[in-house]
Amino acid sequence: MGFNIMEKNKKIILTGDRPTGKLHVGHYAGSLKRRVELQNSGEFDQIFIMVADAQALTDNADHPAKIRENIMEVALDYLSIGIDPAKSTIFIQSHVSELTELSFYYMNLVTVSRLQRNPTVKAEIQMRNFETSIPVGFFTYPISQAADITAFHATTVPVGEDQAPMIEQTREIVHKFNSVYGETLTEPQILLPDNEACLRLPGTDGKAKMSKSLGNCIYLSDTEEDVRRKIMSMFTDPDHIRVQDPGRLEGNTVFTYLDAFSNTGHFAEYLPEYANLDELKEHYKRGGLGDVKVKKFLNSVMQEELSPIRARRAEHEKDIEGVYEILRKGSTHAKETAAETLREVKHAMKIDYFEDAEFLAEQKERF
Ligand code: TRP
Repeated sequence: MGFNIMEKNKKIILTGDRPTGKLHVGHYAGSLKRRVELQNSGEFDQIFIMVADAQALTDNADHPAKIRENIMEVALDYLSIGIDPAKSTIFIQSHVSELTELSFYYMNLVTVSRLQRNPTVKAEIQMRNFETSIPVGFFTYPISQAADITAFHATTVPVGEDQAPMIEQTREIVHKFNSVYGETLTEPQILLPDNEACLRLPGTDGKAKMSKSLGNCIYLSDTEEDVRRKIMSMFTDPDHIRVQDPGRLEGNTVFTYLDAFSNTGHFAEYLPEYANLDELKEHYKRGGLGDVKVKKFLNSVMQEELSPIRARRAEHEKDIEGVYEILRKGSTHAKETAAETLREVKHAMKIDYFEDAEFLAEQKERF
């Protein structure tokens, strides 16, 4: 019985995304790109990437078709960025019923007021106009997220900045569980992007968040022409009217994207008259550098990043049955792993009656 994973001090990643739409470059900069680097670093013993359909249903209960539609989209997005099923387990959350069971026990360790103070939940309640009519499932999703993370004894959770309060809440649940029932669960660490621009990539219209409803996203699955069109109409400095005018970098979406995606190699290849981004920025601030030139450069940078993703996606789209098998096998493996943790949890809570020889002896003694 028990704790094998913890004993060996393994390094384990768990992360995931709600399948409410196709993934975009905000997801990519904020988390997806890093996952692939971590996967290929060889530093991790196990990597679990979850399509969080059950969580998506907590605020989409009336739209099951939307969630169902996006399972394959998200799986294709994962495979196209280079998540390799030989190295990472891709799985579907609702298939791992152990997660729901863990959530139920963790609910006893969290207060209503603590959930109300979770900043992400607070903001999302406002955004969705839930106010007093919040579905209970939605309200408690930080607890289910703690189940997702701890079920795999994850040590590392690479996510975007908006998920920080979830990881914090998970750590609290782990502490509480371990102090009440004994050392059982593993405390996870959050892993945020190290590049400031990647933390919060704005929409193409300069708005703080990329969202499908605002129509300001560049999707990983966009065609070359879509990407070019979106970049050429991106929000820049509204006061930079003539080329010779000095330009502003703050709130200038094109430069934020360059901060997130460009490197000196891109300059050598596509814009050799500048050594690096600092030189380009200086010229823009001084005046004499037009938006179109900067946008064309950004387009080259983004196409270089996105075209291998597009090509890999096209390959996988030809073999949907293969993708389905990846999801099925991944989900089975994830379920087995979570079942082992659930056994450990039930043992720690002393509710593993039929696996606990002492239970029967005790009861016989009593009666
Ligand atoms: N909340 C995450 C999102 O909205 C998805 C998610 C669910 C997740 N469970 C998780 C992320 C566990 C990291 C770890 O994208």
